[in-house]
Amino acid sequence: MSLPGSLYGLSRRSLLGSALALGACQPAAQSQTPTVSLPPLKSIAPFPVGTAVQAVHLTDPSLARLIVAQASQLTPEWEMKMEYIVRDDGTFRFEAPDAIAAFARANGLGLFGHTLVWYAQTSPAFERLDEGRVSFAQAYRNYIHAVVGRYRGQAVGWDVVNEAVAEDGEGWRDSLWSQRLGAFEHMVLAFQNAREADPSARLFLNDYNLEWIPKKRATFLRLVERLLAAGAPIDGVGTQTHVAADQAPGEIARTIAELGQFGLQVHVSEFDVSLSRAQGLRLNRAELERQQAALYAEAAEAFMALPPRQRFAFSFWGLRDSESWLKREDGRDTPLPFDDQGRPKAAAAAWAAQVG
Ligand code: XIL
Repeated sequence: MSLPGSLYGLSRRSLLGSALALGACQPAAQSQTPTVSLPPLKSIAPFPVGTAVQAVHLTDPSLARLIVAQASQLTPEWEMKMEYIVRDDGTFRFEAPDAIAAFARANGLGLFGHTLVWYAQTSPAFERLDEGRVSFAQAYRNYIHAVVGRYRGQAVGWDVVNEAVAEDGEGWRDSLWSQRLGAFEHMVLAFQNAREADPSARLFLNDYNLEWIPKKRATFLRLVERLLAAGAPIDGVGTQTHVAADQAPGEIARTIAELGQFGLQVHVSEFDVSLSRAQGLRLNRAELERQQAALYAEAAEAFMALPPRQRFAFSFWGLRDSESWLKREDGRDTPLPFDDQGRPKAAAAAWAAQVG
């Protein structure tokens, strides 16, 4: 593959660095959550079922089996982000995302790219870019071409711009990308570059808290309209749906329905329901688990209410509680459909009952 090996578009191939096993799984406390018996989620759902993975997860045989049995599509949890791919000197490494892509191919699973442009991630190599040496826009294009091009023909889609809307919904976030390329222009450019790099991949704008902060949802929807009006090649909208068990009922469904209004594909892209973050309700654990199952059901029902061609995928941000990113915040949290031993929970059954 003769792809640029660095921001500067040089053909030197990056040396493969050692994969950082962020979030390597710790033995977790035994969950008391009741489990149920269920057919595999992907055998029930009439749409792709996704899960986030890290390369290190695929070396755990029981987890790898669970992933292959339950999921039809993989989203790298962090190893396709700039934080992983771009080294400080501007060269690229692809060891972990290549391992995830190879696992997907070997097991007949789809691959979903996450994420190209994210305010939260830049790289020293981009920050110190000398305009006299190579233009920022050229390096931005090289990066997107290198990453998207590497998985061309395999990746079914990409989160092109992640979390563009300000936390409170007042406009868009400020970032290195917006400062150098323009608040709106950097997004249009990213979509154009990604389309050039892989014309067959579906391209997404992805964001979170759209169900929690109605103003943020409104700003997100207006941004989609503007991108479409500007001719940006956007194929779909992603709602991460990291929610807490005290999420007001109805808002997840409203969000999914409103996102469907453009006729674009909709991706529930990072679903989990935290018990630990549910501080608004003083509920005991069993009550929180009932709330959690109700939110799983609400999301599944709303997704099923979309026209079939708009159901891009429903992706969980991991399958087993033991690998959840939320465990790092609170080791007692149990946000995912399977318990630490990979057994389906009541939340998974509630979800399955809506899609089957
Ligand atoms: C998180 C991952 O789960 C962590 O492993 C990583 O360290 C940080 O990012 N929104 C996103 C995801 O779009 O990329 C984030 O994933 C969770 C919030």
